[in-house]
Amino acid sequence: MNILFLTTAHNSLSQRLLIELTERGHKITVSIADGEAAMLGAVARENPDLIIAPMLKAAIPEEIWSKRVCLIVHPGIMGDRGPSSLDWAIAEGAPRWGVTVLQAAAEMDAGPIWASHEFPLPQVADAKGSLYRNEVTEAAVKGVLEAVEKFESRRFRPVPLDYARPEMRGRLRPTMAQKDRAIDWARDRTDEVVRKLRAADSAPGVLDSIFGLPVFLYGAHNEDRLKGAPGAVIAQRDGAICRATVDGAVWITHLKLKREASHDADRRFAKQGYAYCDAEFRPISGIKLPATQILGPLMRGVPEAVLPVVAELDCRSYREIRYVERDGVGHIYFDFYNGAMSTEQCYRLRDAFLFARSRPTRVIVLQGGKDFFSNGIHLNVIEAADDPAVESWRNINAIDDVVYEILNTMSHIVVASLRGNAGAGGAILALAADKVFARDGVVFNPHYKGMGGLYGSEYWTYVLPRRVGAPRAQELTEACRPMGTDEAKRIGFVDGVFAGDVAGFERQVAAQAASIASRGDFWNLLRDKHERRVNDERAKPLAAYRAEELAKMKVNFFGPDAAYHRARENFVFKGRAPAAKADRSSAPERLSHAV
Ligand code: COA
Repeated sequence: MNILFLTTAHNSLSQRLLIELTERGHKITVSIADGEAAMLGAVARENPDLIIAPMLKAAIPEEIWSKRVCLIVHPGIMGDRGPSSLDWAIAEGAPRWGVTVLQAAAEMDAGPIWASHEFPLPQVADAKGSLYRNEVTEAAVKGVLEAVEKFESRRFRPVPLDYARPEMRGRLRPTMAQKDRAIDWARDRTDEVVRKLRAADSAPGVLDSIFGLPVFLYGAHNEDRLKGAPGAVIAQRDGAICRATVDGAVWITHLKLKREASHDADRRFAKQGYAYCDAEFRPISGIKLPATQILGPLMRGVPEAVLPVVAELDCRSYREIRYVERDGVGHIYFDFYNGAMSTEQCYRLRDAFLFARSRPTRVIVLQGGKDFFSNGIHLNVIEAADDPAVESWRNINAIDDVVYEILNTMSHIVVASLRGNAGAGGAILALAADKVFARDGVVFNPHYKGMGGLYGSEYWTYVLPRRVGAPRAQELTEACRPMGTDEAKRIGFVDGVFAGDVAGFERQVAAQAASIASRGDFWNLLRDKHERRVNDERAKPLAAYRAEELAKMKVNFFGPDAAYHRARENFVFKGRAPAAKADRSSAPERLSHAV
């Protein structure tokens, strides 16, 4: 069938649906539905057999839905309606939730139902974004595939929305407003604070005030040990801040300064005597950043609560990078928010990797993050830097340094364990490992070009062709399309795919890693790896791959064509960049000095 996606963003869910439906022989066209005219134009152009809206914030015009079947993916149980479904489910601690595929009609979310699938909600709520990328996506895939089959059968009659039916347990809910989300630091207990924050993460965030700054809060983690006056900022760690609650504390990893707040902030700092702030500290509003980067000098005097990557914890706390040893295998978990890796995070990861390599184990597993294995360099931190071109350069070199160490590991077999999606340099990072395993359903975007023609580094010109061959490497990097696990396995991008939820997948990878570590011929494995590396090095040194890639990246970052800078700005501000943003890029004449 010819299927048209009308979607507000071609996000992880719509990419996954595209992959699943394409694998089943359907032809999918994706149209970003930013307005009625765009939707009408796309339908007239494509004349589709079926329209699917994987994630649509606007209403489909009557002219379309009255003539064609339009299936809406709604992240709620049957009968649920409204734009804040997941927010309410998390905030109110619903034990189960679901996804319903319903037909577009005059009233939003009130059309007849084609399919619905439920799942248990974790007792300790996940962030909304995490739920969306995991449970919701799985249920949506099931629901859409079922609805498409029913549509093809031409016999199915969708079930009307009728609240008299017992299965219609949902109801119409309003948009969740900031007043519904507000935290009362003098009253809310830690679990309640975390729940509120997670119900709003990744968007819109909970609006709050820290040191008088109006900020949205993201990335909540329970803290069981640290204590202080409710609401006070009592510690910092790896860019996150810890705020006391009435019965404990909560870590908040990211903040976004409310738009137009920067000038107020400047005035406020000046009043507080931060004479240098105008010159050196100017937080940018509208970008989600590590919390301490937003707060800058206001964090002076707040103690660092250092937590080594190996420390064993008998309570809840927050740690971005964690090292655990089991059965002769060292596992490195690096759960960076949104999978984005800043210069500092890359160097922390490299240190953790070098530590893992210093251990008398045989296998190292790169576990990445739960939602994203990695999405490459940190575009938000780069955007907020005084000189984004220089920061891009620092960041790409830092991630290259991580990849370099993985590639040059001669004491261990390295395994990449992709529990979540991976994009750009983050997808390539995984290929530096000797074995790559992915969870069924993970989406890969192993390309850079979409970011303003970025050439990319991370030694991709070495690791990608070595796995999939030069022609396929060329196709993957040029076509800029998402790839599913079936294709990834078929073309050798990954070595194995295991089904199951994140925990089940982790167990299967751990078993694989342990079996490699205990193999009788382990030393032969390692010798073969050495030989391959030495032969490859003789054919072309790693340094040459890096130098060639970085020469191209230098032009992207510092050259006269600002396409990458524009694309990054557009990505970071989601197409809503402030009108008059100061030019903070390196002037070309400073280039040689800057790098
Ligand atoms: N730096 C900073 N933030 C990033 C990021 C990066 N490299 N990659 C993703 N994010 C953020 C997004 O801004 C979004 O933030 P929000 O939800 O908090 O607002 C969040 O991660 C999820 O991203 P989204 O694009 O919605 O996820 P997706 O699963 O639909 O798409 C990608 C994943 C990887 C295709 C897409 O995020 C992307 O193109 N990222 C940029 C990758 C890149 O160019 N990296 C630099 C070159 S190495």
